[in-house]
Amino acid sequence: MERKEEDEEEIVCLDESFFINDDYQLTTFTFGSQVIQLFCLHSASTDFDLTGQLVWPGAMLLNDYLSKNAKMLQGCSVIELGSGVGITGILCSRFCRDFVLTDHNDEVLKILKKNIDLHASPENPNYCTGLVAEKLEWGNSDQINEILHKYSGGFDLVLGADICFQQSSIPLLFDTVKQILQIRGKGQCKFILAYVSRAKIMDSLVISEATRHGMQITEVAGTRCVVGNLDGVIFEVTLQ
Ligand SMILES: C[S@@+](CC[C@H](N)C(=O)[O-])C[C@H]1O[C@@H](n2cnc3c(N)ncnc32)[C@H](O)[C@@H]1O
Repeated sequence: MERKEEDEEEIVCLDESFFINDDYQLTTFTFGSQVIQLFCLHSASTDFDLTGQLVWPGAMLLNDYLSKNAKMLQGCSVIELGSGVGITGILCSRFCRDFVLTDHNDEVLKILKKNIDLHASPENPNYCTGLVAEKLEWGNSDQINEILHKYSGGFDLVLGADICFQQSSIPLLFDTVKQILQIRGKGQCKFILAYVSRAKIMDSLVISEATRHGMQITEVAGTRCVVGNLDGVIFEVTLQ
């Protein structure tokens, strides 16, 4: 009887919301002449899977690059992998035709949709249209097939910012990228990856996985720089 009471006392009832920080702050970012306000956290959650709640150095690198090369977005149809809070899609929607933002994490998708709604409101001076959020986990064939079916015309560009930080997900990432590039075929679509170097092993894995998947990976001249104290670079990945 005593033992049972002890066991009962050890039961801990905590809802998962207890561990999730959703104290998002409206934050301003500037890329050249483009000013963006959106909701994000200012420091990373302890949960590894919630990296998407804040803006990463890779997004700063990609958005700087795209704001300087906005012509390449003109009239384009774009998909982004691992969008996080959506800062790249929101910038691009000012130039491109339509933009599909994707992520695998449900909590991240919630704040992503909130940021899309913020920018899709006619009250916003930088009112954007053509932004859509979709759930997409790299390597998840059901979710990939749904995207391939729904967007059967394919995309002009695939974007990714700071999405190479977990070794096990890199083969799945390039597998997903390849399937999306193949909708249009060789020469019709490219993957622009804003890569931030945090480990030598990842530097070589990114190159070797792109190559192993039959794709060509090229560093974009003049893009190597320091971003948030780390080395960053823009890669272009195309079908061979
Ligand atoms: C470091 S954050 C970068 C977010 C944003 N691109 C940026 O640079 O601010 C990585 C993002 O990739 C997403 N992600 C990580 N692994 C993923 C996977 N296997 N499938 C889809 N998304 C993934 C995370 O949820 C997160 O939003």
